[in-house]
Amino acid sequence: MRLAVIGCGYVGLVTGGCLAEAGHDVIATDTDAARIDTLNSGKLPIYEPGLEGVTERARRAGRLRFTSDSGEAVRFGDAIFICVGTPPLESGDADLSAIDNVARQIGAKAGSFKLVIEKSTVPAQTGEQLRRALAVYGRSGGAKFHVASNPEFLREGTAVGDFFHPERIVVGVEDAESEQQLREIYRPILEGQFHCPVHQPTCPAGPAPAFLVTTIASAELIKHASNSFLGLKISYANMLAELCERLGGNVEEVTQAMGLDPRIGPQFLNAGLGFGGFCLPKDIQAFLRLAERNGVDFGMLREVERVNKRRIDLFLEKVRRALWVLKDKEVGVLGLAFKPNTDDIRFAPGIEVVRRLLGEGAKVRASDPVAIARASTVLAGVDFFEDPYDVARGAEALLLLTEWKEYRQLDWARVHKEMARPLVLDARNMLPPAQMKALGFEYHSFGRPDLTSAPVFA
Ligand SMILES: NC(=O)c1ccc[n+]([C@@H]2O[C@H](COP(=O)([O-])OP(=O)(O)OC[C@H]3O[C@@H](n4cnc5c(N)ncnc54)[C@H](O)[C@@H]3O)[C@@H](O)[C@H]2O)c1
Repeated sequence: MRLAVIGCGYVGLVTGGCLAEAGHDVIATDTDAARIDTLNSGKLPIYEPGLEGVTERARRAGRLRFTSDSGEAVRFGDAIFICVGTPPLESGDADLSAIDNVARQIGAKAGSFKLVIEKSTVPAQTGEQLRRALAVYGRSGGAKFHVASNPEFLREGTAVGDFFHPERIVVGVEDAESEQQLREIYRPILEGQFHCPVHQPTCPAGPAPAFLVTTIASAELIKHASNSFLGLKISYANMLAELCERLGGNVEEVTQAMGLDPRIGPQFLNAGLGFGGFCLPKDIQAFLRLAERNGVDFGMLREVERVNKRRIDLFLEKVRRALWVLKDKEVGVLGLAFKPNTDDIRFAPGIEVVRRLLGEGAKVRASDPVAIARASTVLAGVDFFEDPYDVARGAEALLLLTEWKEYRQLDWARVHKEMARPLVLDARNMLPPAQMKALGFEYHSFGRPDLTSAPVFA
């Protein structure tokens, strides 16, 4: 099938690349002309493991093209995926101006029947508005439109594998023809008919993805409800960590045992610095606002946000307790991306921690396996190093802010030698406290006994 993708960010590139790899013909477009130039030069504007190979193969096979001419993309696609950003407004509501802008382009340029699919995360009832907008903006062109919702559940860092092996594909439709078109688009994924870039030579046996057909409003709600629930799990684990610190428990023992209950499950129960990124924080805010505007008090989500924001305050309290005064102290930071295997720093808790350290006069030296380039555009006054051992050299404290496996695998005895004071504050509970103590570190994490007898400034 001929597909258009509007918006070449994480979701647009993964959707366009993977659907082209699966055999469809795709044209992707973006208002950011520099981004299209980068893509046309064979490079990716984002770091996402496996995506470069996917897009390159699809381009060479002639199934994937990039253009800054949105009209070309819109005319080409029988189905059009909207993958533009929906960032938070000051109020917490989702900013839907990019969606409106896309509706205007599609309405004006379509010329023939199109299935318009929301893949961006949007509040319930956006589909309704989109249908009206397409009718208004397209009234002189005479083209007919169907609207569908197909929320995306990929996780940055494992997005390609997630796209090819989803647990579920949700399609919100209002007519049988749209359902049929979406089944056809996803047929290669549902039937396992694609070259899997993640598993070679064959994919592990597993159940086929569930293909769930819902109303448009339900599909929109499913995405916000899922992300909000994930945030809730993380905040719950973080509250348990606080309680463990007061009562002498170990949050890992508690959450591990909880997670063995299949009704609870082990994922998203890791205590630490809290969640960030472009999805969870803004989706929870938008869901909360949606509920409020419709007269539903979803107060528990306000609490999820509050607990999450407090993680950074609590972590800085730990840093201050250990280091006393921060001014002029050499503080090393490992990890800036909001999570491992991505260079995405949007709403990354680590970036906020660094800003606050700088605000208190600390001298920050930082590293990240892939996010330094992006971080250096938003953090002035930080010394960046590719090599984590350079960050440790002469540092009076080392802060672990993103759980990159590379940091777990460091030669910690060498790190100890490099540091001016062997103090590690692990905001992601990555390292075993007993081993860190055995190596001679002062070591602090969240909700686990510190086992440290070294002096702490109280
Ligand atoms: N990043 C994720 O992990 C993820 C996962 C699931 C869902 N989502 C949702 O998908 C949507 C996109 O997220 P993203 O992370 O890919 O965002 P992004 O910011 O990386 O990409 C958005 C792209 O859209 C382009 N754009 C904006 N307005 C445009 C317009 N009018 N026409 C054409 N292009 C336009 C931007 O230039 C940008 O390249 C959001 O709603 C997000 O909540 C994101």
